[in-house]
Amino acid sequence: MSQAIGTHAPAPPVSLGDYERHAATLMSPMALAYVNGGAGDEITLSENRAAFDRLRLTSRVLRDMGGASTALRLLGVELDHPILLAPVAYHKLVHPEGEIATAQGAGAARAGLVVSTQASTRLEDIAAAATAPLFFQLYVQPDRDFTRDLIARARAAGYKALMVTVDAPASLRNREQRVGFRLPAGVSPVNLAGMAPRPAATGAVGQSPLFSGFLSGSATWADIAWLRELTDMPLVLKGILSPADAREALAHGVDGMVVSNHGGRVLDTLPSTIEALPRVAEAVGGAVPLLLDGGVRRGTDIVKAIALGASAVMIGRPYIHALCAAGAAGVAHAVHLLRAELEVAMALTGSARIEDIDATVLW
Ligand code: FNR
Ligand code: LAC
Repeated sequence: MSQAIGTHAPAPPVSLGDYERHAATLMSPMALAYVNGGAGDEITLSENRAAFDRLRLTSRVLRDMGGASTALRLLGVELDHPILLAPVAYHKLVHPEGEIATAQGAGAARAGLVVSTQASTRLEDIAAAATAPLFFQLYVQPDRDFTRDLIARARAAGYKALMVTVDAPASLRNREQRVGFRLPAGVSPVNLAGMAPRPAATGAVGQSPLFSGFLSGSATWADIAWLRELTDMPLVLKGILSPADAREALAHGVDGMVVSNHGGRVLDTLPSTIEALPRVAEAVGGAVPLLLDGGVRRGTDIVKAIALGASAVMIGRPYIHALCAAGAAGVAHAVHLLRAELEVAMALTGSARIEDIDATVLW
C-alpha cells in the first residue's frame, strides 16, 4: 500500500456508505439532489435508516452451518440471494452507460433487477444486456392503451414479473426544487416516447391543478383488477404500508407486495418500512411474498427485514451511487459487499438458510 502514501486517491470502498460518500463528490448538483433527496423535511428518509439501527440482533454460537446458503425462490424465479435492485429512473443521470451498465453489474452479482418505467434506456436493450432475472416496474400511464403495449413489450423481452408502483402519484421534494432540477439533454424516459401527453389541468380559477389535472388519470384499484385480467405475469404491488391496503391487494389477486415508502421520496412522516413491515406481514399472513425496501445498507438490515416477514429486499440509492462511482463493476461490487455482510450476519445469528431467519434472531 506504500504507493498510496502521499496521494489523494480515495480508499477502495468497503461498504455502501463508502460508495455514497464517494458518489457525492462526483455527481452534478442536480443529480445529487434528485438521487439523494426525499420529500418534505426528509423525516421518513432518515427514519428508514434510524429504525434499522435501533433494532438489535441476538447471536447464536456453535451451530452447524454446513450447507449454508442465501438462495431462495421468489415469484417463480430462482435467486442466489435476496438482494434485488429497486426500480430507479434515469440511470444515465449518473453514468453515461446508464441501465446497460446496471444490467451488466446485476448480472455479475446475480442480482434481480427491477427496471423502471422511467428508465433512460429502452427496456429491450436492457434485457439484451442482462444475465440475471429482470422484473418490470410499471407506472400505469393515463394512456391505458399505451400502458397495455408497454406491458406486452416487457413480457416479450423476457421480464419475469410486473411490479406496479402505487405510492407515487404526486410528490414535492425541496432539494430538487432548490436546484431547479430538470433532465439534462440526452436523458429521457425513452420507453414512454410517443405516448399521448397527460391531460392538461383545466386551469379554472379555484381548481387545484393537482386534483383536476395530474391525478385525474392516475391509477385506482380498478386498474389493478384490469391488470390482473390483462396479464399472466406475476403481479406485485410496490408501495404498500397499510394493512388495509395489503388486504385489498390480496383481494385483487396480486402475487406479491413491496413494503415501501418510496425511499422517503413521496409522503413525509410515513413510518420507516422496517417499522411498517410486521403489521403488513400480519395482514398478509404468508399468502404472498413480501419484499421490503428503504434504508437497506447493511447485511444486518437484510437479516432484520427477513426476521420481520420479508422474503427479500431491494436497494435503491446504494447501487446508483456505485454505478456513478464505477459503472457496471461498481454495481456488482456493491451487491457483493452487501451479500458478504449478509452471509456473515447469517453465520453469527446461526441462520444457515434464508428460511431459518425468524424473529428469534432479534434481541
Ligand atoms: C426511485 N424509486 C422509484 N420507484 C419506482 O417504483 N419507480 C421509479 O422510477 C423510481 N425512481 C426512483 C429514482 C430515485 C433517484 C430513487 C432514489 C428512488 C424508489 C425506489 O424504487 C426504492 O423504493 C427506494 O429507492 C428504496 O429506498 P433506498 O434503498 O433508496 O433507501
Ligand atoms: C422518483 C420517481 C421517478 O422517485 O419514482 O423519482
